[in-house]
Formats: sequence, C-alpha cells, structure tokens
Amino acid sequence: MMEKFMAWIDARFPATQMWEEHLSKYYAPKNFNFFYFFGSLALLVLVNQILTGVWLTMSFEPSAEGAFASVEYIMRDVEYGYIIRYLHSTGASAFFVVVYLHMFRGLMYGSYRQPRELVWIFGMLIYLALMAEAFMGYLLPWGQMSYWGAQVIISLFGAIPVIGDGLTEWIRGDYLISGITLNRFFALHVIALPIVILGLVVMHIIALHEVGSNNPDGVEIKKHKDENGVPLDGIAFHPYYTVKDIVGVVVFLFIFCTIVFFFPEMGGYFLEKPNFEAANPFKTPEHIAPVWYFTPYYAILRAVPDKLLGVIAMGAAIAILFVLPWLDRSPVKSMRYKGWMSKIWLVVFVISFIILGVLGVLAPTPGRTLLSQVCTFLYFAFFLLMPFYTRMEKTKPVPERVTG
Ligand code: HEM
Repeated sequence: MMEKFMAWIDARFPATQMWEEHLSKYYAPKNFNFFYFFGSLALLVLVNQILTGVWLTMSFEPSAEGAFASVEYIMRDVEYGYIIRYLHSTGASAFFVVVYLHMFRGLMYGSYRQPRELVWIFGMLIYLALMAEAFMGYLLPWGQMSYWGAQVIISLFGAIPVIGDGLTEWIRGDYLISGITLNRFFALHVIALPIVILGLVVMHIIALHEVGSNNPDGVEIKKHKDENGVPLDGIAFHPYYTVKDIVGVVVFLFIFCTIVFFFPEMGGYFLEKPNFEAANPFKTPEHIAPVWYFTPYYAILRAVPDKLLGVIAMGAAIAILFVLPWLDRSPVKSMRYKGWMSKIWLVVFVISFIILGVLGVLAPTPGRTLLSQVCTFLYFAFFLLMPFYTRMEKTKPVPERVTG
C-alpha cells in the first residue's frame, strides 16, 4: 500500500529523491562535535519565531494608538498569550546566541574556505536579514526603548552626505517616527523579511549539500570514497545525525524553556526595562542602548568620534565578514592545524567582540571610549592582518582522514 502510494507521489513530485539527496543518502563527516548542533538549532528557532509570530499577529494591532495596549492585552487577556510572547521575545535572543556560535564554528574550522564560500555568503546575508528583522520587530511593541532605539538607528542614515536627510524621511515615511513607520516596519517584519530569510536558508542548505559539510579537522571527506561512491569518513545524515540533533534540541529546549518560564526579561537584556512604558516622543530615556546582540556594533559606532566615520566603521565591521573567505590564505582550514598566530588572533577577536558588546550596553565614559577604540582596532586587525599571519605562520600537518 505504502510503496504504491510513494510510487504515485514520486511519479509526480521527487519526494523520495529529495529525501535521499538531503537526508538518507547525504553523507556528513562522522566527526561532527558540539559546535555542529547550532545549524539545526537555528532552524528550530526559525520555526519557533514564525509560529509564535503568526499567533502574535492575530492579536497585535499595528498602530501608534493601539500597539502598546495590544501587547498588554496579549500578555494579560489572550489565552496563553504571555507564553506566545515570551517564546517570541526569548526566541529573538536565542536566535542570535545560536547564530553567533554557528558563525564561531565557521571561524574555527575554516568552513568559509573554498569550496564553501557561497555557504558562508548566504549565511552572512541571513545574518544581515536577521538583524533587520530583529530591529524592525523591536519597534512593534511601541515602548520607550522601541521608539528611541529606532530613533537613534534611523537617524544614523542622516549622516550620509547629500541624500542623508531625504533617506531618513523616506525610511520613516514621516517627519518623525510615527504610526506610519510602525505600519511599514510591521509589514516588513511579518511578511517581507521572513520570506527573504526562509529563501536564504534554503539557498544556504542547497549550497552546503552541493559541496558537503566541513568538519573539525577541515579534511574533505569526498577525497576517500568506497566502491559505491560513499565517503569512507561519512555517515548518513538520517538516521545518525537526525537522532544526534534531537539530543541537542532537548538540551536547548530545556535551557530555552527555563528562560521563557522563569527569566523572560533576563535582567533587562532580553526585554529592556524602559520598554514597559509606552513610547513618548517628548521624553527621551536616560540611557539608550540597543538589545545585547547589536551592542558590539553600537560600541564600534560610538568609538569613532565623527558620526559619518562611525557609521562607516559599523558598516565595515559587518561587511568585512563577507570577504573572509579571501582573507584567509592558510594552507590548512581548521584551527586545529593552524599556527599559533591564527589561534591568538581568534582569541583576541572573540574577546574584543565580547568587550565591545559589554561596552555597547554601558553609558560612555572617557575610559570606556578608549577601551572601545582599542577593541575596534583589534576587531579590524584580526581581519586585515589575516592575509599576512595566515601565510607567515608554520602549520601542522593535516591528516588524510578525519581523526574522529
Ligand atoms: C537562520 C539562520 C541559519 C540557519 C537556519 C542555518 C542553518 C545551517 C545548517 C542546518 C547547517 C548544517 C548543519 C551545521 O553545519 O551546523 C549550516 C551550515 C553552515 N552555516 Fe548556517 N545557518 C544559519 C545562519 C548562518 C550564518 C549567519 C552563517 C555565517 C555567516 C552561516 C554559515 C554556515 C557555514 C559556513 C556552514 C557550513 C559549516 C560546515 O560545514 O562546517 N550560517 N547552516
């Protein structure tokens, strides 16, 4: 019965072919480690955001008059509304935690290197779209921080010579941030960007499956195949990694649900305190800071005294990640076999990024500004010096086969 049914489907839609190509006959390296959980976890969070987002939209009112009250209505009166909202707000932060760890894995094991440059570039496009998605979503509850955070970021476009003022007005759709801005951000957040993100994720995975996954050794498993063309160091994604990924999902959900149910505001880092007050265009909050996942870039912006140069530095900090595949000239991919300079620079980069993140939350003082300037310098030095230190250093011999 089942076989007949599948034959009927397969004659009309390549279901079995796709299942085999992407799951049961997709051979992934057998030495995936902890850091390989985050791709599937990013998919899980994406599904969570879409589902909870759809349900929030059912009761949310995208207007300057009604938005804040409709969120309160969701929290108090809609059945299980508070859970849906906390799943969505915690999901936003979880998305960035997972994606940052996913990107860090790429940095460690050289997953951006040939032949995976497009996997990396699609990833970077996802990252950009995700930042836009989070930024626009943050305006929707129409709290004080929603309003003033958007005010700071949109006004940055005003620093661009000649077109700056016109551009900010065009983005806002008004002379100040208003219900019109809220409405267009709602449309982009709920429809346009999710479609873009979903499309990019599909391209990301198609590109990955075309070339095959990298692994902690940075060894290409396709070099050694058995008589059937199956990589000797590969195992079928299904059932081996589907089952392994379930372990990651369970552990992740345990932590995620603990936050959703017990610490949804996360001390003001996931839901900021001023956002419990409705937006007031006449009252600037004492201290404006973006949500934690944007703060490293915000610190870079503030580290540069000139507004336009600051905006350029912030843009460059993200843009430089796109060309990473061409900056790394090492003969080896994985950090396991790179020399000490690459290792030290990666540690310096991560520490600088974290310090910048912390500084971005705090109010500036002369000492903090100096520290953010040093960290901004180190952030860029990691990338700009990479062509030199990756070529100069002595690397370790890479094994022919994965080491397990
Ligand atoms: C919605 C966000 C994302 C989703 C759902 C996603 C999904 C995935 C999945 C399922 C994999 C295969 C499993 C794994 O290797 O962990 C993967 C691999 C990969 N992703 Fe992503 N990804 C996302 C964002 C990103 C970003 C922002 C980057 C980097 C800029 C990136 C770079 C990579 C790379 C380089 C690989 C190949 C890793 C390897 O083979 O070693 N991804 N992604």
